Amino acid sequence: MQKFFEIEKTSEGKARAGIINTDHGKIETPIFMPVGTVASVKTVHQRELKDDIKAQIILGNTYHLNLRPKMDIMQAAGGLHKFMNWDLPILTDSGGYQVFSLSKSRKLNEEGVKFKSHIDGSTHFISPEISMEIQRQIGADIFMAFDECTPYPCDYRLAKKSMEMTHRWLKRCIDYNEKNKEIYGYKQHFFPIVQGSTYSDLRKISAEKIAESDQVGNAIGGLSVGEPEEEMYRITDEVTDFLPKEKPRYLMGVGTPWNILETIGLGIDMMDCVMPTRNARNAMLFTWQGVMNMKNKKWENDFSPLDEFGTSYVDREYSKAYVRHLFVAKEYLSKQIASIHNLAFYLDLVKVAREHIVAGDFYEWKNAVIPNLKNRL
Ligand code: GUN
Repeated sequence: MQKFFEIEKTSEGKARAGIINTDHGKIETPIFMPVGTVASVKTVHQRELKDDIKAQIILGNTYHLNLRPKMDIMQAAGGLHKFMNWDLPILTDSGGYQVFSLSKSRKLNEEGVKFKSHIDGSTHFISPEISMEIQRQIGADIFMAFDECTPYPCDYRLAKKSMEMTHRWLKRCIDYNEKNKEIYGYKQHFFPIVQGSTYSDLRKISAEKIAESDQVGNAIGGLSVGEPEEEMYRITDEVTDFLPKEKPRYLMGVGTPWNILETIGLGIDMMDCVMPTRNARNAMLFTWQGVMNMKNKKWENDFSPLDEFGTSYVDREYSKAYVRHLFVAKEYLSKQIASIHNLAFYLDLVKVAREHIVAGDFYEWKNAVIPNLKNRL
């Protein structure tokens, strides 16, 4: 049988190039995963995602999909792949994080979380078992443990209590998964999540607990929630030391292009973030030369290509002046072009990072390009 994760090359540091094998195809790591919360990567067609942006896996969200279109429609469609006509891998987040960031009111106890929908105020309940069942019905290739993500800053006692509950919830997730197998005929892979806020001792306990659960991959949560970047790097560095080398490590919700390169350097294989799409809709473009605000007057008469080093057709076919005009005129097409550009850039960033890991000069390269990425153009 094919191994779920194969490491192709390990660099002198912690960075590695690998391959994740799923029944919907392979994923070359390190990889960035575009976020498609409600069965859509906002403003971007599946065809563009695949053929132009070269996305290898996308994300869906349990919280949103369960509220709309709901699981009866998802099952009738035959799962999310068929529903949205996406035949490459999909990863779903478990819902816990989104309940905390989106729902109007929520009550958490040992059993699970009761919350009011951000759409119509209706009352819902998600427990570890319900989250597993929803993700089974969505049919994600990789699905996540139901956890609690603590805010930043978080009092030590609360962080510890929350982490311990996340560990008890993990056991319930695993018990449920053992009794309930896949429904669409392909394999679904489960990842547990390390929590523990910014406390090194808690992170160590959590990472050891998660590693001991012996699943096929592991994730790090509770980061990029407002803590300084250095804290995020420190915790990531500490946690990756305790997570098994032979399994993929997924850093949830991260981040800027430089966060991505730094955390690849700390042993991360997978990441996701709304930043390339959300910021695109607000006229912020990421490039190898730095960050551009497309509403800026300086682009008004600049008829050069949107990004001469970009890999997407939008980079070659449209000028900076045209895209600026679209943003100023509040045209929907501005958001679409910017989202395609940013996602293609993020996918190019991890592809080039991978090439440097394989070539053996990743750290040298990373340190040279990061100052450029941070430029304000
Ligand atoms: N997305 C970003 N951070 C987190 C987290 O801590 N938990 C989950 N489930 N999803 C996340």
